[in-house]
Amino acid sequence: MEKMLNIALPKGRLGEKVYKMFGAAGFPCPEILETNRKLTFENPDAGVRYFWVKPSDVPIYVERGAADIGVAGKDILMEYQPDIYELLDLKTGKCRMISAAPEGYVDNPQRTLRVATKFAGIAGRYYASIGREIDIIHLNGSIEIAPILGLSDIIVDITETGTTLRENNLKIIDTIAYISARLIANKSSFRFRREMIDRVFKGLTAQTEADP
Ligand code: PRP
Repeated sequence: MEKMLNIALPKGRLGEKVYKMFGAAGFPCPEILETNRKLTFENPDAGVRYFWVKPSDVPIYVERGAADIGVAGKDILMEYQPDIYELLDLKTGKCRMISAAPEGYVDNPQRTLRVATKFAGIAGRYYASIGREIDIIHLNGSIEIAPILGLSDIIVDITETGTTLRENNLKIIDTIAYISARLIANKSSFRFRREMIDRVFKGLTAQTEADP
């Protein structure tokens, strides 16, 4: 029997949504949605083994071949630029990468801009592309409080509903990128396990078309 396809899914709400797409695409493994601490699940009949990993770790598993395919946010792919194939926009987990500042903030282009972010790579490349000198303050979460406390002038972060920005009196300055979940593949798996990956790809494509 052919060995199972290893699939890395991002742990959390997005991962559950995405798993449901895989299930509906013909690769179910219902046990995965039972609430417990188990991290790997397999359905030998469907030829798949799923595992939950931290969202920002998905590209590492896929790039190194521990997973044949996986699902990662475009933000994570932009930040880490892993050496993988990006196969499909799953059209879910949609949000925006933005820069934002406190209401009333007036920029002084002569000064180095202090930018708080989890996405140092994205922020660095973005400001380099517009020729602005910045000082990056790399944080791990709750980015929105950095300008409130005077730690930074602005932030670069993702926004989905806009609630967090609003509740912290921040206004969007620029949209840096539109983000959504992507199906990614290990380069060698894509070559040697092409038939199985194509079946998953087709099943998921049908899902994205069914639920635009
Ligand atoms: C993300 C992001 C914003 C928030 C945006 O944070 O960093 O803080 O969601 O969502 P909204 O526009 O719908 O309010 P996350 O929940 O991942 O936590 P974090 O503070 O650890 O980054």
